Amino acid sequence: MLTVESLKKSYDDTSARASKRRSGQGARVYAVGGVDFEVHDGELFTLLGPSGCGKTTTLRSVAGLERPTEGRVTLGGRVLFDAAQKINIHANQRGLGMVFQSYAIWPHMSVFKNVSFPLEVMPRAKRPARKEIEDLVGQALEVTELAAYAGRPATKLSGGQQQRLALARALVTRPELMLLDEPLSNLDAKLRESMRFELKRLQRELNLTAIYVTHDQSEALVMSNRIAVMNQGRIEQIGKPREIYTKPATRFVAEFIGTSNFMEGKVVSAGAGEVSVDTAHGRMVAHGVERIPAVGDPVLVSIRPECVDLSRERRGNVANEWSGTVLTRAFMGDVVDHIVGVGELEIRNRSNPTLSIPPGTEVHFSVAPDKVTLVPVD
Ligand SMILES: Nc1ncnc2c1ncn2[C@@H]1O[C@H](COP(=O)(O)OP(=O)(O)OP(=O)(O)O)[C@@H](O)[C@H]1O
Ligand SMILES: [Mg+2]
Repeated sequence: MLTVESLKKSYDDTSARASKRRSGQGARVYAVGGVDFEVHDGELFTLLGPSGCGKTTTLRSVAGLERPTEGRVTLGGRVLFDAAQKINIHANQRGLGMVFQSYAIWPHMSVFKNVSFPLEVMPRAKRPARKEIEDLVGQALEVTELAAYAGRPATKLSGGQQQRLALARALVTRPELMLLDEPLSNLDAKLRESMRFELKRLQRELNLTAIYVTHDQSEALVMSNRIAVMNQGRIEQIGKPREIYTKPATRFVAEFIGTSNFMEGKVVSAGAGEVSVDTAHGRMVAHGVERIPAVGDPVLVSIRPECVDLSRERRGNVANEWSGTVLTRAFMGDVVDHIVGVGELEIRNRSNPTLSIPPGTEVHFSVAPDKVTLVPVD
């Protein structure tokens, strides 16, 4: 549906120019340094990454609010932007719905009017009948839990309510593609969580296609059909939430998406079914490795805390069984974490709170080989 190819954006700000002059080289600072992705019909596609990695710049380039330095953007076969051919369709001709990080409501209008306005200003041929406008607005206010405030001036809403109003306004025109830049960032934790599910339900029910921007990895995992993990203006990996979580392609992805245990190691044997890695603290065997490394290759072993099987007794008949000492224990309500020291190494375990082992106890833990992820070291 939407295709973004080799998108680059550099801001020629004064500091960049000054440093260029100083260093005497033509190196440009790219906010987005060449990204490629495709968004499919009916998909919620997320750009995920830390602050400043280029998410908003990418989204604004798709929206037509930013003129990319290079690249090409097409929507359903229609070229929206092409640097080489000098095509740049105006933002309001692109037919997209947007909710921005810094949302803006129309302060002189009521809540109802804020949402109905985008429909009322549509060209006559496309504009729905008055009754239909009322229904569409009613529905949009319903899903954003704003129906009770329809008649209120938009300025007399809390920050979170204003954000939901911005969302309702973008939803009401049922755009071909929705662009959502951290649309839940101003909500309190509880409302944010319920809105995640509401938004996801709505997107699925209305079969909306959306690009969703967030720096919150749990939000991305819950909501997305696919995620592009961005770092310093580039995409590190694109995949389904489960793939990104269980098979991170790079160290950055493994670190950014949840917590993980890392160990550096060297491959000692590598077959299609099984790869063995020697680390400073012992051997780890991995199954189901996607990109089989060569013997002698350095790799990073990554193990999620919930995949560390902790026990007081040594089992002996399981793979990847190591021994250590509990250093700390942290109860978090629904889960408990133990940090186990193995020499200098600290391994984090996450378990059901029925398991609780005090610090100082000698313990054993194992990791199922299909839960051992090998991250290539570049
Ligand atoms: N108008 C601008 N002029 C100069 N540099 C800019 C401009 N807008 C953004 N940048 C820079 O481009 C980079 C990417 O910014 P962008 O807003 O796309 O990040 P982001 O991933 O959306 O971050 P956040 O999560 O903080 O919103 C940053 O280093 C930022 O400082
Ligand atoms: Mg941003």
